[in-house]
Amino acid sequence: MNRKILVANWKMNPQRESEAIKLTKAIDAKNVVICPPFPFFKSVKSVIKKASLGAQDAFWEERGAYTGEVSPLMLKKLGVDYVIIGHSERRRWLHETDEMINKKVKVALKVGLKAILCVGEPLSVRKKGLQAAKNFVKNQLREDLKNIYNLKPKTYNLIVAYEPIWAIGTGKPDNPKETAEMSRFIKEYLKPKTYNLKPKVLYGGSVTSLNIGRILEYNEIQGALVGGASLKVNEFKKIIKIASK
Ligand code: PGA
Repeated sequence: MNRKILVANWKMNPQRESEAIKLTKAIDAKNVVICPPFPFFKSVKSVIKKASLGAQDAFWEERGAYTGEVSPLMLKKLGVDYVIIGHSERRRWLHETDEMINKKVKVALKVGLKAILCVGEPLSVRKKGLQAAKNFVKNQLREDLKNIYNLKPKTYNLIVAYEPIWAIGTGKPDNPKETAEMSRFIKEYLKPKTYNLKPKVLYGGSVTSLNIGRILEYNEIQGALVGGASLKVNEFKKIIKIASK
């Protein structure tokens, strides 16, 4: 069986480059994708031996007059393998729409990055039940992956991270059984007849060393996107150990 992927999403942390280097050295392992803030890329890359490098975002154009944006092509040339797209924090704070996310996924795949598309419902939707959450996620997938088939992306270059918004940073993870059901649903929706894609599905939202084991027990969940716990050396080391069993 393939080893599970662990994506360390550091968000806007740590505050110092020296801390970023220290953290990288401590969690550098196969099947780990380290996603630091842009200013730390070069130094993180220079100490990585086994892990892959990921970005937390990239723009939808390869070049041009887009002040403040980062080109996916530049990232690719820098040795970045993965890019997170459509994280709920960006949808919320930067008002990223499905249309913008669709463009970002397409260009990321076009330049040869592995796109980790984040989807997930808010609490108000989940309160109505898992079926309502599935409908919400289906709509996001439909919009975020519109016309993606035309690009003929390499089958495994698209990864979907199911991250229910209410579970992110709250200490209240989803029930793994329901996450597994959602993952099956996502795979079913993206089956060959729809998009010819076989994406891995990851789970994100309050993952810790105490719950990762139960989450990864399910074959349909192929890894995790870890925020807070990826900044704590001992905690993340435990997560890596459990995930590589
Ligand atoms: P968390 O964040 O692990 O801190 O809940 C996950 C994420 O935002 O991807």
